[in-house]
Amino acid sequence: MARTPDALVAATADHGLPERYTERSGVDRAALDEALSVAIDRVDDTLDEFYDRFPSPSSRDLVYDATDNMDGWTASFWTGLCWLAYEVTGKRRFRDAAETQLETFERRLNEGNVDTHDLGFLYTLSAVAGHRLSGNERYRSMALSAADLLADRFLEAPGLIQAWGDHEATEESWERGRMIVDTMMNLPLLFWASEETGDPRYAAIAETHARTTAQHIVRPDGSTYHTFKCDVENGTPIGGDTAQGYDADSCWSRGQAWAIYGYAIAGDYADEGAYARLSATLANYYLSHLEDDSVPRWDFDAPAEQDHRDTSAAAIAACGLDELARQLPLADDRVRGYRNAARTTLGSLAENYSTVGTDSNGLLTDGAYDVANGDYDECCIWGDYFYVEGLVRATEHWSRYW
Ligand code: GLY
Repeated sequence: MARTPDALVAATADHGLPERYTERSGVDRAALDEALSVAIDRVDDTLDEFYDRFPSPSSRDLVYDATDNMDGWTASFWTGLCWLAYEVTGKRRFRDAAETQLETFERRLNEGNVDTHDLGFLYTLSAVAGHRLSGNERYRSMALSAADLLADRFLEAPGLIQAWGDHEATEESWERGRMIVDTMMNLPLLFWASEETGDPRYAAIAETHARTTAQHIVRPDGSTYHTFKCDVENGTPIGGDTAQGYDADSCWSRGQAWAIYGYAIAGDYADEGAYARLSATLANYYLSHLEDDSVPRWDFDAPAEQDHRDTSAAAIAACGLDELARQLPLADDRVRGYRNAARTTLGSLAENYSTVGTDSNGLLTDGAYDVANGDYDECCIWGDYFYVEGLVRATEHWSRYW
């Protein structure tokens, strides 16, 4: 039986906010301003190389290759970086690049791969942001087309958006009826579509998916599964598994970060305080499992010899913690703690994981895209995006694209 968001929070163990984050962050504003300015300069330096092309999802030897935008889930993080750089500097060349890249997002809707839950990532940071900043109706219409395609992936009986593969397939497969924690960050496109059109259907799908995720992906100990499969015909829960974490029962730190940020935003759109409280519970698990420098290992349960960090998880979490601090009631005495944790994380990323002084065309070292495939200790383009978003959040007045 479906439980209420409040009952779901009550069923989840809360590790509490670690004491080290209740102290004022030692990271001062000037250090974050400087880190932002260094990052924007790097984006500027690489703009010609990636004017109408996109950095590969992760780098090789800290250097991204150029790719197109017919497949994959990461192209929009570069476009989002261009929009952020435009907002911070006011320089037209960043906006022109973002608008040139938007043409590929329009083409992709007709000719490329759109059979994925990642439409939220792809069209929020490109078309929704583009519409907000330029008022161009073409971008609004692209984002609404993407929202329609994402809503089509909703499966009624289990109440979830299928993450990968053909959602209309009738033969059994690993992907059929499987949701993943990352999708929490694709829901803002649906919430936005309801606000834009006045049609409540998109938000209803997003809310149902958020609740199903809380029911099955969030574990009673406050950690998360990466993926969870349900029976498509009758909704029966089948079980959790992983794609990029250490194993089915481990806690993949990037997944936990997607959930922290995703629930903070869902709480805002749905005006549901329980989602902010769930985000806090997930954040407390995350913060209680961090290394001394506030950057997580790629999976909290991986064996000690697989000691790779994932700076991209840290950058996502920093944005999520800041959003959570904005969504909790001001009287909640954890608000300051989450803000401190966000600043401490950003300060550590700037001090310990910057590519400054290398030949890299990225921003952060030590991202872990897919450890099992040997893809770690590299820049990840979404990590770079969230790092800059986090710095903008910490230093500017900014309205989120999500
Ligand atoms: N959304 C895919 C990932 O986090 O790797």
